[in-house]
Amino acid sequence: MTRKTRARNTSVATKITMAVSGLFFVIFVVFHAYGNLKMFMGPEAFDGYAEWLRDPIPHLIPPMWFLWAFRALLALSLLIHVEAALRLWIRARKARGTDQYVNHQTLATTYASRTMRWGGVIILVFIVFHILHFTTLTFQIGGDYHMLTPYERMVASFSNWYMVLAYMIPLAALAMHVRHGVWSAIASLGWSKKRREGWINAIAITVAAVVFFAFMLPPFGIFFGFIS
Ligand code: HEM
Repeated sequence: MTRKTRARNTSVATKITMAVSGLFFVIFVVFHAYGNLKMFMGPEAFDGYAEWLRDPIPHLIPPMWFLWAFRALLALSLLIHVEAALRLWIRARKARGTDQYVNHQTLATTYASRTMRWGGVIILVFIVFHILHFTTLTFQIGGDYHMLTPYERMVASFSNWYMVLAYMIPLAALAMHVRHGVWSAIASLGWSKKRREGWINAIAITVAAVVFFAFMLPPFGIFFGFIS
């Protein structure tokens, strides 16, 4: 095996790692967005769901064990995903200048990878902000969160226009990331064929749109007074 072939093979392995860890995130994100939509069903439904997350199988698994296991899995997948992204980025930077193929990258590819990189950074910053907001309750916007239920914390937060905006911008970045990510994942897993490109594109756009709107509906609902 030549050095070039070996490099290409490890690139494919890294891309598959990204695809699989990315797919895990898409599943989490869709599930999370679906859970948040319970805001439209009232306080009992949403608070009951938040309670269930902490104690999903009472009498069998002690409270919080499931949540901590899931948090650990999420953190591990995030680490794997980011590490693989950095590895691909460093390899592409090194290759530039020596490899003719990389030098003749199309503008579209460069644009996509740049969007993915910056989108990824915005999402990482958002995750930190989001955990400080709703998990550790460090940023308490619109009230004393320790005195509020999960439902009331959502209402207190998204009654402010700047919080709607603070979530909407990263979610737009996430939607773009998911769109390109789904597309690349399908290609990396080897299911992409020229005649299926239209369908794959349609699937990628649909998943991205579902993620954006499903997440943003509760904040919009609160802001415009449909949820109070
Ligand atoms: C409008 C968008 C979003 C809203 C309103 C929202 C809301 C929430 C709320 C209320 C919680 C706390 C749940 C609880 O009390 O148990 C939470 C937790 C969390 N959210 Fe979101 N979320 C949004 C988007 C996202 C996105 C896009 C991601 C990931 C990319 C994400 C990742 C997380 C994580 C990792 C937790 C922590 C779960 C935990 O360990 O307690 N969220 N979110």
